[in-house]
Amino acid sequence: MALPHGIVHVEQLPVEGRRVFVRVDLNVPLTKDRKVSDDARIVAVLPTIRHLVERGARIVLGSHLGRPDGKVKPEYSLEPVAVRLAELLAADVVLADEPVGDGARKVVSDLRDGQIALLENLRFDPGEEANDDGFARQLASYADVYVNDAFGTAHRAHASTAGMVPHVAVRGAGYVMAKEIDVLSRLLGDVDRPYLAIVGGAKVSDKIEVLDALLARVDVIAIGGAMANTFLTAQGKQLGKSKVEADKLSIARNFLRKASEAGKTVMLPTDVVVATGLDADASEVVSIDGVPGDLMALDIGPASIEAYRGAAQRARTVFWNGPMGVFEKPRFAAGTVAVAHALAANKLALTVVGGGDSAAAVAQAGVADQVTHVSTGGGASLEFIQGLELPGIAALAVK
Ligand code: 3PG
Repeated sequence: MALPHGIVHVEQLPVEGRRVFVRVDLNVPLTKDRKVSDDARIVAVLPTIRHLVERGARIVLGSHLGRPDGKVKPEYSLEPVAVRLAELLAADVVLADEPVGDGARKVVSDLRDGQIALLENLRFDPGEEANDDGFARQLASYADVYVNDAFGTAHRAHASTAGMVPHVAVRGAGYVMAKEIDVLSRLLGDVDRPYLAIVGGAKVSDKIEVLDALLARVDVIAIGGAMANTFLTAQGKQLGKSKVEADKLSIARNFLRKASEAGKTVMLPTDVVVATGLDADASEVVSIDGVPGDLMALDIGPASIEAYRGAAQRARTVFWNGPMGVFEKPRFAAGTVAVAHALAANKLALTVVGGGDSAAAVAQAGVADQVTHVSTGGGASLEFIQGLELPGIAALAVK
């Protein structure tokens, strides 16, 4: 496993009998009755925690959950996460009732070798997101060793991902972080070709930097989701009531021009599934040249699926981020599910799914274990593949 120069793997760190602060990303979705509805991020950090337990470390886990804006809000408590983590580990996890303070300090100092504590939501304190030095030093005072296993939060320069790190003498990357760096770095290097990027989601404005960066590296970009509507409108298509970012048409036009000048292929849907709205109980497939004025496109159609599937079959490297349609609704999920299956079917390619909705889609399609890598980071994986420096990774390098 290749780690950037200066970053040490957790397996190489001296942790026996020491207090090890592990930044994890346990920002998981909860149901209305506050149960963990998708535990993928919890499962992902088990190897690092188990390794530390086996080595007799005193483990202090820190994470955020949601965006409580620096205030204590019970609905953002990590309590359901602590329960699920304890179930998965079949071990006790003591939840401190605050991220820092006398209570948290006592929980940490009571830890014995191999025991695990989880601090309450770090974002309950405004110092976390502000990367406040005082807060960072308080967190650092709970640690002899710092491990970052929170790839999903590595693009945030917060106290627990950046500020506290120089205040702890010994530091390194956990299993999740190391694997993410290893696989995603391969996408920035000399990849096998053709290299296909499949990019979907709602807005051109959210993804334009990623698209621009991908253009320099890939051979083909296939676009889906509502953002495709903006590109199609920029090409002069009439999309009825479909969601279109009218103020992003020139950005879309510009991107298509740059792609054609660079000799890159941009694939856009040639047919779409249309309906009156998200909750419609009827839908139909129409050609992109025949979208009725009173309907909206909510998924890519079967001809587009075939074309994207073919591109995925030919590719030897594939990066996918963003759904092809409103996949939460079964009526509009076919495009996204088909892309998940197409990646899983290509055993010759490096297939990487970039977090968020696409990770949920491969899980929903039951093929998460049939692609090379499903990233635990949404925003973080997008910044990484743009070649940007992620503060949470940069901080780990021993200078
Ligand atoms: C994520 O879910 O992408 C990470 O946990 C980061 O969360 P944030 O976007 O609220 O910083």
